Amino acid sequence: MNGLPKLVTSVVELRKEVAAARARGQRVGLVPTMGALHEGHLSLVRTAKAECGFTVVSVFVNPTQFGPNEDFAKYPRTLDADRGLLAGCGADVVFAPASTEVYRAGHSTMVEPGEIAEPLEGQFRPRHFRGVATIVLKLFNMVQPDAAFFGQKDYQQSVVIRRMVADLNMPTTIHVCPTVREADGLAMSSRNRYLSPDARQQALVLSKSLQLAGRLVADGERDAAVIAAKMKDLIGTAPDAQIDYVALVDPETLQPVATIADRAMAILAVKIGSTRLIDNWLLEARL
Ligand code: PAJ
Repeated sequence: MNGLPKLVTSVVELRKEVAAARARGQRVGLVPTMGALHEGHLSLVRTAKAECGFTVVSVFVNPTQFGPNEDFAKYPRTLDADRGLLAGCGADVVFAPASTEVYRAGHSTMVEPGEIAEPLEGQFRPRHFRGVATIVLKLFNMVQPDAAFFGQKDYQQSVVIRRMVADLNMPTTIHVCPTVREADGLAMSSRNRYLSPDARQQALVLSKSLQLAGRLVADGERDAAVIAAKMKDLIGTAPDAQIDYVALVDPETLQPVATIADRAMAILAVKIGSTRLIDNWLLEARL
């Protein structure tokens, strides 16, 4: 059994820990999270640990990525349980700063991610990726990791971060790891704990519609509009489902595709009652 990872709350102390690891010759990996950890997060931590000797997991519910009517106040904060889960995955440091440590008085600089942040999530959460890019850049500057690990579950986020790292000549290698799902297909998410048992059951329409898209493409369907319409019909069978978007997009540009030529990303956001869930699935047309 591994011990609990060291809890660090200040940037000064964090830098000391990282400097000591570097002095020992270790590579440094970072897994940024907002806590309320589940197996999806833990899979990133295990990958980070295998890749880099020294692994920092940040746990910070970042206020700048939440809209005014979103769930910042009620977002689950479970640091003790998170630390316990991380003990089994080889995390060395949990960095859990207060908001005031991250956003000092007078903080005013923000990262503007541009076009890639505009479609999909950007249409429904206008300043979300500005907040995400800003906190990820800040965390990268605090930790200065060799590599950082993200999940495909938040696909557009991973594209925004890759873009930022390329555009701003940042030296960190970005790894995007596969989505971890519950046995019945639901993508793991900290927000799943908002779902009542009935809503949890209804939430299966997200993964089911993505699997349907995969089957349609495997069976030869190439018309994106036909696939999206069938996905929407399936989602519509859940009485409390409200679609924000269901789209088939180019995996790099996130622009809509009309035909599945080679690869397309099926990507969606659906509210089940008041809980907003996202998921995605890579569609590959093999001739
Ligand atoms: P959070 O939602 O806590 O997710 C942290 C990381 O875990 C993200 O890279 C996310 O894609 C990944 N993740 C979440 N669910 C997953 C699953 N089922 N399978 C695999 N990976 C999964 O995403 C954020 O936090 C924040 O926006 C953050 C990047 C930390 C910036 O505040």
